[in-house]
Amino acid sequence: MNANPSHDSIRAVQWHGDRLRLLDQRRLPAEETWIDCMTSGDVTRAIRDLAVRGAPAIGIAAAWGVVLAAQSGEDLPSAMATLRAARPTAVNLMWALDRMNQRVAGGADTAALEREAQAIQDEDLAANRHMGELGAALIEAGSHVLTHCNTGSLATAGYGTALGVIRAGVASGQIEQVYAGETRPWQQGARLTMWELVRDGIPARLIADSAASHLMKDGKITWVIVGADRIAANGDTANKIGTYQLAIAAKHHGVKFMVVAPSTTVDMATATGDDIEIELRDATELLSVGGNRTVIEGADAWNPVFDVTPAELIDAIVTERGVILKPDEEQMRILFP
Ligand code: MRU
Repeated sequence: MNANPSHDSIRAVQWHGDRLRLLDQRRLPAEETWIDCMTSGDVTRAIRDLAVRGAPAIGIAAAWGVVLAAQSGEDLPSAMATLRAARPTAVNLMWALDRMNQRVAGGADTAALEREAQAIQDEDLAANRHMGELGAALIEAGSHVLTHCNTGSLATAGYGTALGVIRAGVASGQIEQVYAGETRPWQQGARLTMWELVRDGIPARLIADSAASHLMKDGKITWVIVGADRIAANGDTANKIGTYQLAIAAKHHGVKFMVVAPSTTVDMATATGDDIEIELRDATELLSVGGNRTVIEGADAWNPVFDVTPAELIDAIVTERGVILKPDEEQMRILFP
């Protein structure tokens, strides 16, 4: 099963020798604006402010942040600590910094750090292509699927995780129709996933997040396919807010639920989903739409941006190491000893 290469054209995180160039995801789809990061501080800001987002892309950007810190003679432990604190939930950030730190501790020079960051980026792309094939093989021919948030080329080194499975599934004829949830409040589904799908000519329809149960009820959706920000040792999975309610609705309607994530998203040191820190972002993100205030002045809001889907609601976790059906702690330990 070969993925169609035309379904994979975006590289949102680009190393240019002395700078990290990022496609500014805050401005899509209205503008394709690139920002140049020259220091680790620039990268920290880009991660914190969501210019670059998506668990694997955050990890890759942070690795390049360490290279920038080395190039500009910054204090590396302090640069790495600041990068690490940029966002709390996606473990790929901590994983990439730990891997870079091992090289720093081993006395690696700037060129060796550059090679390490490039390896992290290249391995992510290879993992995504492999997961695409593994995940698509689980899907029945002619399926309609629903995805959430953005897990595509924008969120990774390229191709995507859940969106990689969708790309592979469309290329092989397994998937006929894709639905993407808007993903309030930041609208990763509306602004980013639809941008990727439409550009690549994939049959896609946007739905309001609140239309998901109604969509599942008509029986055409066979799989909900999502990414992950952190998978705990028992298979509990943190992902974009709204994922948990999709899993509950899927169970109710007999729709299967697939999580697609590279091994860099698995955190065997975290026992269960209850131990995962959920990022709370500013209430103002909820109080306006597209920069226009929609809620009365003086109103408050609660804005957790991730939730945890318990393993018992997940039918398959797809990683580049293999597929876990009906995940639990025992099965997780076999693939991630
Ligand atoms: O807040 P974001 O946009 O960084 O959240 C992204 C998600 O929740 C994605 O589903 C997850 O990181 C997987 S991306 C391959």
